[in-house]
Amino acid sequence: MTTQQALNYWQPMTHPVSTRDKPPITIVAAEGVEITDAQGHRTLDALGGLWNVILGYSCQPIKIAIAEALDRLPYYSSFTGVATENAIELSHVLGQWFSDDGLLRTFYTSGGSDSVETALRLARQFHKIRGDKDRYKFISLKKGYHGTHFGGASINGNAKFRRNYEPLLAGCYQIAAPYEYRNPFNETDPEKLAQLCANMLEDEINFQGADTVAAFIMEPVLGAGGVIVPHSSFMPMVREICDRYGVLLIADEVITAFGRTGAWTGSRLWNTQPDLMCTAKGISNGYFPFGATMIGEKVVDTFETNTNSLGEIGHGYTYSGHPVGAAAALATLKQLQTVNLPENAAARGSQLRAGLDQLQETYECVGNVRGVGLMQVLEIVSNSESKMPMSKTLMNSIFETTYQEGVMVRVSGNNIIMSPPLVIDSDHVAKIISALDRGLQAI
Ligand SMILES: Cc1ncc(COP(=O)(O)O)c(C=O)c1O
Repeated sequence: MTTQQALNYWQPMTHPVSTRDKPPITIVAAEGVEITDAQGHRTLDALGGLWNVILGYSCQPIKIAIAEALDRLPYYSSFTGVATENAIELSHVLGQWFSDDGLLRTFYTSGGSDSVETALRLARQFHKIRGDKDRYKFISLKKGYHGTHFGGASINGNAKFRRNYEPLLAGCYQIAAPYEYRNPFNETDPEKLAQLCANMLEDEINFQGADTVAAFIMEPVLGAGGVIVPHSSFMPMVREICDRYGVLLIADEVITAFGRTGAWTGSRLWNTQPDLMCTAKGISNGYFPFGATMIGEKVVDTFETNTNSLGEIGHGYTYSGHPVGAAAALATLKQLQTVNLPENAAARGSQLRAGLDQLQETYECVGNVRGVGLMQVLEIVSNSESKMPMSKTLMNSIFETTYQEGVMVRVSGNNIIMSPPLVIDSDHVAKIISALDRGLQAI
């Protein structure tokens, strides 16, 4: 591909003119946990696509299920009065899959941003059905990432995804995230920090007026915002506060559902049951754009006992419950039962973490190492005392060398994020560490 051809393509999260100087790395094939670019260079994909390819690239049963579904029924709508077999069957399977999270019903989407938008809308509607018409506000965490729809951007906790699109949705407020390395309290004890952030949530609910707040949304482990792992007490405290004030708890598990943290869901990792859960990505192993917002008992009861038009769902997508996507998800869930995915994510995550800790001991520029299971991050700084973020140029050079050494990682700001497929083995982990070692040496 030439630079000229690439100019036609405005890529997500990219300045359109950046391709003038440098066309994107063009990925042409993938096998197992490796990807191959147009120059024939093979790299271990320590990103798992974009957190989503949890079973790797060679999962035949999912590919076959997609091909068969495409052949049998390439599309039909799920709007009012019709549905497809695959979508119905999958909702039953998902109801069982998420029963330990207290989630019973499924609303299908085409991806993570759609799942978040769905949860936000259902949360507002839930309160309207109950006569709490003023409860429209949302509270979320700074550093949280909830996709790029206007709803998701409005609850997003990173200015980069907000500033150029303002004004955003009214009634959205953010509190500090339990991020030990940098927080407004200068608190380094994770448990105390969790308490301070929970206090902030309660304070914000009271400040807004509890009767105006519809929901609090959080990722059980913050992903794109820099893999921030709250103390185990945080989400249970949040649940308790939400209950006390009649606020719904939405878990955005677009990344954390399906095993990435070492538990099947992030909510389960923290022993918390949310009222709504956003899922996507791993649900179809990234092979088909698909998502599901799962709905908990309280919300289900409110909608299903309603008898007027307030309970009618005026929301949905052309591709909600796409029969090919549903087939991909059914095959993915079946496949997930045949491998010990969370166990492997936990074991390989510990190995990866030990290697990253070692890198921190070796390189002063590694300011912080964080993560759980197979979502890990190195935060790179130019000065460990001042914690000044490393320059973009040097971050790019870490990326380049690591890529040339055979490992694809994600550089986001001054973070190097790793979210490999959950099926990686110990040799793969060793390769990630040695390539990063070379990458860090290079600066
Ligand atoms: C937690 C979370 N929510 C929502 C989204 C948005 O998902 P999508 O990009 O599929 O719209 C993402 C994407 O990374 C995410 O990590």
